[in-house]
Amino acid sequence: MLNKAGIAEPSLWTRADAMKVHTDDPTATMPTIDYDFPVMTDKYWVWDTWPLRDINGQVVSFQGWSVIFALVADRTKYGWHNRNDGARIGYFYSRGGSNWIFGGHLLKDGANPRSWEWSGCTIMAPGTANSVEVFFTSVNDTPSESVPAQCKGYIYADDKSVWFDGFDKVTDLFQADGLYYADYAENNFWDFRDPHVFINPEDGKTYALFEGNVAMERGTVAVGEEEIGPVPPKTETPDGARYCAAAIGIAQALNEARTEWKLLPPLVTAFGVNDQTERPHVVFQNGLTYLFTISHHSTYADGLSGPDGVYGFVSENGIFGPYEPLNGSGLVLGGPASQPTEAYAHYIMNNGLVESFINEIIDPKSGKVIAGGSLAPTVRVELQGHETFATEVFDYGYIPASYAWPVWPFPDRRK
Ligand code: FRU
Repeated sequence: MLNKAGIAEPSLWTRADAMKVHTDDPTATMPTIDYDFPVMTDKYWVWDTWPLRDINGQVVSFQGWSVIFALVADRTKYGWHNRNDGARIGYFYSRGGSNWIFGGHLLKDGANPRSWEWSGCTIMAPGTANSVEVFFTSVNDTPSESVPAQCKGYIYADDKSVWFDGFDKVTDLFQADGLYYADYAENNFWDFRDPHVFINPEDGKTYALFEGNVAMERGTVAVGEEEIGPVPPKTETPDGARYCAAAIGIAQALNEARTEWKLLPPLVTAFGVNDQTERPHVVFQNGLTYLFTISHHSTYADGLSGPDGVYGFVSENGIFGPYEPLNGSGLVLGGPASQPTEAYAHYIMNNGLVESFINEIIDPKSGKVIAGGSLAPTVRVELQGHETFATEVFDYGYIPASYAWPVWPFPDRRK
C-alpha cells in the first residue's frame, strides 16, 4: 500500500503473522505478578520508565548512581485511570539498580509549554561530562497536540543523592505531517509520540523512532492480500480491520544539537492488525537490528488478539529493513492469560533485560482489580537470530547500568 506521498511500503506486520500470537507461550510470557507487589513510592503513580543511557543505547551510571526516568502523577490528586491528567517526568536514583529513591520532577515547573509530559528517552550528551538531554512528548488536550520535544540540562551527584539543573526550555522537534504520519485533522485517534533517539551504527547518523499512525483518514485502510498475508481458506477479515493503521515512525536529526529533524516514512506498519505500536526502541546485536514496540490487547484489529506486552521485528539489513516479525508472530513478552493487564510499557535494554510497569492486577481471592503504578519484575530475554526466549526473572524494577559514565572535574552548579 502506498501512503499519500506515494512512498513505497514499509515492512508489514500482517494479519497472518498476528494469527501466530499465542498468549501463555512459555518462551514469551511475563511471570505472574503477585497482587501483593512492592510499591516504589506511595506518593506517585509510576508508569512508563526508561533508564539514563548513552546515545548508543547502553545504560550508564553517574558517579556510582543508577538513574531512571518515569512518568509520574501525584497519587493524592489523580487516580490510576486519570493519571495522564497529571503526567510529569520524574526521576529516581539508586546504588546498584534497585531500591529506587524518588528525586523529583526533571523539567522545571512551567518549562513545558503544553499540559503534560509523556514518554521518551534520556541520554548523556556524547562527549560531555554531565550534559543531559531528554526527548519526550509534549502533550495538550485542547487543542489536541502531541509533539516530540527536547529539553536540556545537567546531572549532578554526591554521595547522598542525584539532582538536575537546567531543564527550563523546551524545543519542539517535529510534528505529524499528515503526509507520512496521520495528524489530528485526519484521524482524531492519532498517536504521535514517544521519541527514542539513537545513533545508527551503520551510517553514524542520529535518528529518532516514534509511535505514529499512517497518514490517512480514520477507517479507510484497505486491508488487502498483502496486509492479510497467507491465511487458511475461508479466513475472514472483519470490516473493523480498516480502523487499524499503526506505524513505527522514524526521523533523522539534521544538526549536532539534535533540534532539527526530517521525517522519514515509517519502518513497520500494522495495517488491519493493530492501531497502536508505542514506545518503539532498537537493539543492535550480532549484525541484526531488533526493533521493539509495545502494544495492547485492546488495540488489536477485530478478529485478532494478543496480550499487552512487547512485540518485535528483526532486520538483516540495518535500520531501514525489511523487517520480519520476531518468533514469526511479533510477540516477544506478553502478560499471562491469568493476569492479562498485569504489566505494560516494556523496554528492552541492550543487555536483554526488560523493564515494565505494573498496570492492573486481579486479586485471585476477591477478583478485585488492584492498580499498579510501580515497576514490575525485570525479565531477561535472549535474542537469537529471528527468535527470542525469556530466560530469567529478576527483582522488581531491577535496572542495572552497563558502564559508568566517565566524569572529570566540572563546575559545581549547585544552588
Ligand atoms: C504507553 C503510553 C505512551 C505514552 C504514555 C502516556 O504506556 O501510552 O505511548 O507516551 O503511555 O501515559
